[in-house]
Amino acid sequence: MTASNRTALITGASAGIGAAFARYLASEGYGLLLVARRAERLQQLAAELSEQHGIPCEVFAADLNDPAAPAAIIDYAQRSNIHIDVLINNAGLSGKDAFASTPWPTLAAEIQLMVTAVTELCHRVLPGMQARGWGRIINLSSIAAFAPPGASLLYTGIKSYVLGMSQSLDMELKPQGIHVTALCPGFTHSEFHDTMGTRDQANQLPDILWQDADAVVEEGWRAVMKGKPVCVPGTVNKIIAGSMRPLPVSLQYYLGDRMNPFKQ
Ligand SMILES: NC(=O)c1ccc[n+]([C@@H]2O[C@H](COP(=O)([O-])OP(=O)(O)OC[C@H]3O[C@@H](n4cnc5c(N)ncnc54)[C@H](OP(=O)(O)O)[C@@H]3O)[C@@H](O)[C@H]2O)c1
Repeated sequence: MTASNRTALITGASAGIGAAFARYLASEGYGLLLVARRAERLQQLAAELSEQHGIPCEVFAADLNDPAAPAAIIDYAQRSNIHIDVLINNAGLSGKDAFASTPWPTLAAEIQLMVTAVTELCHRVLPGMQARGWGRIINLSSIAAFAPPGASLLYTGIKSYVLGMSQSLDMELKPQGIHVTALCPGFTHSEFHDTMGTRDQANQLPDILWQDADAVVEEGWRAVMKGKPVCVPGTVNKIIAGSMRPLPVSLQYYLGDRMNPFKQ
């Protein structure tokens, strides 16, 4: 089977890293099923990519805060006779407010979007991948999973879950031809900090800490094709992640408290 017979489901394809994945995989000949809430953006991207690359490109508008969304996406794919060979579990955001004063439904929605929906989509695409003996799954974690925890950020715990879960899935599934990679970017140019409300603080950070979404995508895709369960893209991010791991937990805690650029 060649890329031209394969289809990638990409969540959060309306912006940033997800849109960059759509562009990259379309250029490699993959058919696409694009998911996010902003249907108009998805439709524009789908039209552009099918015109440029001659690939089939479908759109399914869904809010992944809705617990019914993952089943609805896979149901749509099955009804449309789309086989999901590649899953890019990318949709995500971070809150920035204090845990104690954030309403529970807001926190529950973060967990639904970046833990439950990510896990459920992995589970739901597997039967097809197992039947075909080939699959590639990239779950967006973050360098936050390696860096010291920041006060108030549920995000650190969520992305640590995604990192550990992806490694376990990879161990289980690689013998069946299915590779799973946790992609752990650092600061990446996208709409993430606009949504989080931290654009001003993010703009103060030195250029050396930033990567373009295209570079993150290319390194992440190379990693999953090579069967690497964890990918920290970019030299600077690799140095940061690598230097944090061996530190004692108490020192990680101290640094997290002192160095969080988004501390209120
Ligand atoms: N940018 C960074 O610095 C950075 C660093 C490390 C990890 N990451 C991770 O990379 C992933 C992509 O982030 P990004 O930087 O590309 O951010 P972005 O530009 O803000 O894009 C986020 C995407 O997620 C989608 N999304 C958000 N909530 C959704 C929901 N409830 N249902 C469906 N789709 C939803 C958005 O689409 P709609 O609004 O149209 O629904 C959008 O397409 C995230 O998982 C993020 O945690 C980012």
